[in-house]
Amino acid sequence: MTTNSAPIRWGILGTGRIAHSLATDLMLVPDGQLVAVGSRSKESAETFAKVYAAHGPVRAHGSYEELAADEDVDVVYVASPHSHHLEHATLVLEAGKHVLCEKALTLNSADSQTMVDLATSKKLFLMEAMWMATNPIVRRVVADVRSGRFGFPRHVHAELGFVADPDKHQRLLDPALGASALLDMGIYPLTFAHLLFGEARALTAQANIGTGPDSAAGGTFDLDLVMTGKYAGNELSTMVASVTSHSSRSAAIATDQGRIELTDFHHPSSAVFKPANGDEPVEIVGDEPVIGAAYGNEIVEVQRCLREGLLESPLVPHSQTLSLMRQMDMIRESVGARYATES
Ligand SMILES: NC(=O)c1ccc[n+]([C@@H]2O[C@H](COP(=O)([O-])OP(=O)(O)OC[C@H]3O[C@@H](n4cnc5c(N)ncnc54)[C@H](OP(=O)(O)O)[C@@H]3O)[C@@H](O)[C@H]2O)c1
Repeated sequence: MTTNSAPIRWGILGTGRIAHSLATDLMLVPDGQLVAVGSRSKESAETFAKVYAAHGPVRAHGSYEELAADEDVDVVYVASPHSHHLEHATLVLEAGKHVLCEKALTLNSADSQTMVDLATSKKLFLMEAMWMATNPIVRRVVADVRSGRFGFPRHVHAELGFVADPDKHQRLLDPALGASALLDMGIYPLTFAHLLFGEARALTAQANIGTGPDSAAGGTFDLDLVMTGKYAGNELSTMVASVTSHSSRSAAIATDQGRIELTDFHHPSSAVFKPANGDEPVEIVGDEPVIGAAYGNEIVEVQRCLREGLLESPLVPHSQTLSLMRQMDMIRESVGARYATES
């Protein structure tokens, strides 16, 4: 299906914000082609398809079922709210297509395991769209920290959050659509610490909990969350996520020789090591260029895996996604956040 010379043919499921971000970067990847989009509304699919039509025809499907059945699609990017990822990824996998599925993979680890098991049994590629892990600067920082290039790492602090606007960001404030500061924002600091130090040995959390616009529908979710972690080498993490306050969006890794600082740590345009001894700061440069907004690097990784016949990416392996999903289950339970479907 994915021969070495032919372009990889992409379909996109959903026409929201992140669907546009990925489609924009897909235009920059030479051996990938957007060939189809699926939406709950034909009109929305057609509007989306027109935006990218200058790069080649994009078929507009008025249902996700039609997109899944499109024979000229190799891989589908699932860009719906995480409350619906399992349903939508299942549709695509059952139709025999590979899947790149937005984060969080699902609402909880049991559903993620179901999705992974299905992909594995069908011998299809599945990857959580954890684009931070495919970012060349993040990859270089992770390799440098692990090798001890900038000293012995002791602590990472990372934070991500902004004020969600109920008119613009309904998904972020509605537990029926998977709202959770942790699943939307906190997943990044949690994954960042995991990439640096390995699986956490202990995690604790404090949160403020809210209900959705329709409290009768049930479900509670974390609005603001702080977490601490401890890792195998006794490294520590402090992590912040919020949908009610603005964070610095930065990360800092403290070592016994200085500090590594990243602005917009989940898609940094630069990272710098500042030695404590007053030496000149060292810019940490990725081994490959960042493509577009860095979704391009994620696309390149998926395409590399498909061409090599891999069923999972070594940069975002299933075991890592599942481990982090289990941790997020535990954290949500400890702060009293619970979706209506889980009660
Ligand atoms: N990697 C990143 O940087 C990043 C950034 C933001 C979000 N995300 C993730 O991407 C996913 C989508 O986020 P988004 O911000 O793009 O959301 P969004 O703007 O609200 O778009 C979600 C799309 O999903 C489809 N959808 C299917 N069922 C839906 C339902 N019941 N209610 C609402 N929409 C539904 C809709 O497309 P149709 O109307 O066309 O069917 C909608 O446009 C989330 O899982 C989120 O965590 C990732």
